[in-house]
Amino acid sequence: MSSIKEPVVIHKGLDNVYVKESRICLIDGEASKLFYRGYSIDDLAAHSTFEETAYLLIFGKLPNWTQLKEFAGKIESYRALDPRLLRLIQSFPESCDPMDALRTAVSSLSLFDPTPTAENLNARVDKAIQILAKTPTIIAAFDRTRNHKDPISPKTGLSHAADFLYMLSGGPPDPYDAHVMDVALILHAEHEMNASTFSCTVAASTLADMYSIITSGIATLRGPLHGGANEAALRTVQEVGDPSNADEYVKQALAERKRIMGFGHRVYKTWDPRYRILKALGADLAMRKGQQKLYDTALAIETSALKHLSGSPIFPNVDSYSGVVFHMLGITTDLFTPIFAMSRIAGWSAHSIEYLESNRLIRPKAYYVGPVGLRYVPLEERLS
Ligand SMILES: CC(C)(COP(=O)(O)OP(=O)(O)OC[C@H]1O[C@@H](n2cnc3c(N)ncnc32)[C@H](O)[C@@H]1OP(=O)(O)O)[C@@H](O)C(=O)NCCC(=O)NCCS
Repeated sequence: MSSIKEPVVIHKGLDNVYVKESRICLIDGEASKLFYRGYSIDDLAAHSTFEETAYLLIFGKLPNWTQLKEFAGKIESYRALDPRLLRLIQSFPESCDPMDALRTAVSSLSLFDPTPTAENLNARVDKAIQILAKTPTIIAAFDRTRNHKDPISPKTGLSHAADFLYMLSGGPPDPYDAHVMDVALILHAEHEMNASTFSCTVAASTLADMYSIITSGIATLRGPLHGGANEAALRTVQEVGDPSNADEYVKQALAERKRIMGFGHRVYKTWDPRYRILKALGADLAMRKGQQKLYDTALAIETSALKHLSGSPIFPNVDSYSGVVFHMLGITTDLFTPIFAMSRIAGWSAHSIEYLESNRLIRPKAYYVGPVGLRYVPLEERLS
């Protein structure tokens, strides 16, 4: 029972609650459109690079040639890990989830930074770029270690996407694979005020350091309702196994009120624009890699789900093909969410910095409905 007299509105899930004005991202969930800083995701996927998109998100405008070169050079110079952090990663149990490894390693980055707290926004931006730069190195080092291979140092002259593939495999990446990874990173870099971005914003509002902010984003992305749907969507495709099984699978799943992974979205009530881009890349990759059956199975699930869900606002989302695409790039399934995080650091950083430009500590309320004035019963008198 609460002493509050006025009517209280509880915004469970914070649906439709705005926490700030923003110039970073616009999702038009009815028109199937997504814009980063005013630029459509289709244009960015077709013409930009992850480095350029990260600059756009963090600094608010597209860089000129000199700015981009300087930014990309900075990322390159920050990629290597302190040898002590590398040893720490090598000490992680092989069986640990890569998201746990990433969360712990990103948190530990602050231990090896002599000045982990930033004095001003510019210094914060620099910390954000350092974390963004080191994340692929962390993921690759962990993956190689658990596979009993030595970690590989970053290589100069490679893009963020290409260097990640290089550090994972140890060989020069196929240029088309690097292009696909680059586009995937662009598509995952930002998506307005989702759960992990909100988590980062809350941490930022307390004036926590960038390492704490990004660690809270990774921790929140860890949950299966947020990151992880791409892994589940790929597993569905693998379980279905053949296009001819798709319709039966979808019918049965819907009859059992199960969700079709890679379908539905809180904001998009039509096609997710990122889905179209990944589907096209998936079709191309399937031909190049001889993985037609996998792609055709995903396509058959999509066709069947659209047929059976017709009339509802449930459409394919980004995850319906992202897992298939990552799989065809040779990436282990449990690395999909860490890759999502590695890209989303750009958006997390942009939102945290934007919020800090006119900060207000985030402190919502909980409406108390419990008892008050209970008599404290000494332990020895408590019967149950
Ligand atoms: C993403 C997601 C949580 C968004 O859901 P939401 O907009 O909050 O919608 P709700 O969870 O309230 O579901 C509304 C209705 O649509 C149905 N629905 C939503 N997504 C569905 C899916 N993928 N397959 C089948 N039915 C679905 C729900 O069962 C519910 O039906 P009901 O009203 O008869 O109970 C949801 O669509 C989902 O779980 N999708 C599968 C996982 C996924 O692909 N996640 C990645 C998102 S990028």
